[in-house]
Amino acid sequence: MSAQIGKDIGLAAEKLRAGELVAIPTETVYGLAANALNEMAVVKIYQVKNRPQFNPLILHVANMEQLRKLGLELPEAARELAARFSPGPLTYVIPTSPKIPDIVTAGTQAVAVRIPNHPMTLELLQQLEFPLAAPSANPSGYVSPTSALHVAGQLGDQVGYILDGGDCKVGLESTIISFLEEKPRLLRYGGIPLESIEAVIGPVELPQEGYSDNPVAPGMLARHYATRHPLQLGKASELVETALKTIAASRIVTITLETEIPGIPATHQFVLSPEGNLEEAARRLFGALRLADEMEIDLIIADMFPEKGLGRAINDRLRRASIR
Ligand code: TXA
Ligand code: MG
Repeated sequence: MSAQIGKDIGLAAEKLRAGELVAIPTETVYGLAANALNEMAVVKIYQVKNRPQFNPLILHVANMEQLRKLGLELPEAARELAARFSPGPLTYVIPTSPKIPDIVTAGTQAVAVRIPNHPMTLELLQQLEFPLAAPSANPSGYVSPTSALHVAGQLGDQVGYILDGGDCKVGLESTIISFLEEKPRLLRYGGIPLESIEAVIGPVELPQEGYSDNPVAPGMLARHYATRHPLQLGKASELVETALKTIAASRIVTITLETEIPGIPATHQFVLSPEGNLEEAARRLFGALRLADEMEIDLIIADMFPEKGLGRAINDRLRRASIR
């Protein structure tokens, strides 16, 4: 059985009310959603993704009113950010409330919340009587999906419905920021650049260098976004030169921002934004990784992107994909 794909928000709501999983479009990536207040439904998310139970889920709501009804409240700094960036690709980690099941927070005292910015999913969230728990709609550890077809290809037979909202406009997961300590701490680089956040609330603590495989904090899984083929990240022209000593050019794929790499066939090069636009590059990154993965090759070589704006999130994903 393969999943139904369509644009029927009413049908998506019906399935969610019945405790089924529905893939939902957001501006970042597609989510694998369940009624967050129905533990039996949320369990299915972990099963379908093969996700470790210690890794909590993001709670998605339509607006601040829905948050308040769940007994959740954003601290002052988060409210300032929300005024600018919500709905949008920003997730707030805040103290949880007794109304939120342990399975959503993985038994921690904190919950991650986000208002996604996609008209269909906002409409869906407005219709529902409950919030949606939704991780990215990919098998745990793989690249996140940025189109309905990506979801169908990997999880199609395991979801009740795929709500097709087109290609994701941001293409990278949300930025996650924690308000549990005195100073806000960035937990994951994502769709809202660090610079934009600091412009609103001043300096924030940064994620620890060197992710651990045995995370003290959720969200810190090192090996992630992994492609089937090995991926090297660095100065692409140099990595290519070295690789060509042992691997044929036709067995290498490159991913760069704006420049082509001499010696590699054009069909094996993903130039993500010829104009050097990091937003365009972010939007195209995961699709390129998936296409590269489907090719008969031995190695993906990715150029290090500029460490600014969305370049930080791109480098973060590529770095994690490069860990074997
Ligand atoms: O853009 C996104 O955030 C997408 C869309 C679907 O909203 N969702 C997403 O979910 O990327 P997921 O599960 O793939 O990544 C969420 C991250 C995980 O690394 C998880 O550990 C972290 O958020 N997280 C969730 N709840 C948390 C909590 N209470 N404390 C700290 N980290 C948390
Ligand atoms: Mg994910």
